[in-house]
Amino acid sequence: MESNDPIIAAPSLLAADFAHLADEVARVLSCGGDWLHLDVMDGHFVPNLSFGPPLIAALRQAGSGLFFDVHLMVERPGDLLEEYVAAGADGITFHWEAEIHHQRLIQRIHAAGKKAGVSLVPSTPVEALTAVLPYVDQVLVMSVNPGFGGQSYLPESSGRIRRLVELRRQNGWKYRISVDGGVNSATMVEVAAAGADILVTGSAFFGAKDPAGFLRQLKSLRRST
Ligand code: DX5
Ligand code: ZN
Repeated sequence: MESNDPIIAAPSLLAADFAHLADEVARVLSCGGDWLHLDVMDGHFVPNLSFGPPLIAALRQAGSGLFFDVHLMVERPGDLLEEYVAAGADGITFHWEAEIHHQRLIQRIHAAGKKAGVSLVPSTPVEALTAVLPYVDQVLVMSVNPGFGGQSYLPESSGRIRRLVELRRQNGWKYRISVDGGVNSATMVEVAAAGADILVTGSAFFGAKDPAGFLRQLKSLRRST
């Protein structure tokens, strides 16, 4: 990932109007979204429930042209891997805290021809992930405690993003850095400057008066490195 590559905009479906999901996905596309971020919650790893493979499959057609970025906030993330693949996921990100055999799951995701990501909650030190960082395509930094949209960006996240940039540079690793939680017009400049490659935005995108303008601004941000 080069620092002058454009930022990837990944609106999160969690903040969409669930009564009109196909239209909302079409709106992400028409407003300039690059990725569709799909938050899967199991009521155990996080205290909330959302949706699973059948809904992702149902939206695949409306979202053709979007990279389907599946964020598994679930225990035992490997259990339904084949179902997410069949549903049309392009990338599958699991939580470091929810898995013991990280490399095995990364290998399974890669063997299915998909991008593999690992995510960490705010209380997990970045260094805990060192053993898996050489193998992943994406590191998803949770900048809120996961489970709900509309929370405030935790300011310590910026230092965690910078640390991931530094580790990547020092070791020649290749992962992209995604940031998820509380990213909006007030925080996105700082998040990009810290070195994020992908910005996930739920409430800020779906609640924007001018969502296309919001994404234009977001995608024009530059990283400082
Ligand atoms: C939170 C989810 C996020 C959420 C972000 O647990 O992982 O993807 O949709 O929502 P906002 O952008 O509203 O903080
Ligand atoms: Zn998410």
